[in-house]
Amino acid sequence: MPTQHQIRMTKDGSPTLFHTHYNQTYHSVNGALSESQHVFIRTGLAEAARRKSQIVLFEVGFGTGLNALLAYSFAIANNLHIQYLCLEPFPVPHNQLLAFSRQLQLPADLQQVFLRLHAAKNIPVSLGDRFTFTCYEKSLQNYHDRPGTDIVFYDAFSPAVQPEMWTEQALQCVSDMMNDDALLVTYCAKGAVKRILRQLNFVVESLPGANGKREMIRATKKQHP
Ligand SMILES: C[S@@+](CC[C@H](N)C(=O)[O-])C[C@H]1O[C@@H](n2cnc3c(N)ncnc32)[C@H](O)[C@@H]1O
Repeated sequence: MPTQHQIRMTKDGSPTLFHTHYNQTYHSVNGALSESQHVFIRTGLAEAARRKSQIVLFEVGFGTGLNALLAYSFAIANNLHIQYLCLEPFPVPHNQLLAFSRQLQLPADLQQVFLRLHAAKNIPVSLGDRFTFTCYEKSLQNYHDRPGTDIVFYDAFSPAVQPEMWTEQALQCVSDMMNDDALLVTYCAKGAVKRILRQLNFVVESLPGANGKREMIRATKKQHP
């Protein structure tokens, strides 16, 4: 069967993958690394870290593991404890991951972390005393745990190609996993997604997006009255 993943270089010099079935890249073509840093780390995790030093983080769509790797580096640099939980029903084949990491040109210690993240399937793995990681090979629709999550990285493919990930039902599932005042960050800025989040009792901020994109969403879950 032909591979569904192709390496593409993005404008900041970092790689992403192109998924031939979804006809979409895993990150912005204007910069994979800069998008992950901006949306998920600077606008999301850094804000969560201002509030708490022990964080439960939930990622929808582990993919290449770039967000997880950056979150690991952030935890180490900022003396933060992260329990990182994520979902990936369609893991990227190993040879594609190796090709991706070669293009990322990781230092040897981060390359080891990258490989350990991808080797961990369905069981918790400790990467030092500040970062535990579990990746479930499940879809959001088949994940029924309710971890008290402090921040969600919502990194599904876009509403245009994967609309089922952006319905009220899907976002309700995620909301049910979140603590009051927890954050959800996503690169997506669609009005329909903002409206659903507001209906689910989130306070929605439209913040500047990555790489010159006008907007992204950061939403805070409010307590039900
Ligand atoms: C935009 S890519 C994620 C990029 C990833 N965060 C990264 O840093 O490489 C979307 C990911 O969502 C995964 N996905 C697709 N359907 C899903 C579902 N129903 N539940 C959870 N993840 C899903 C895809 O396999 C893909 O890895």
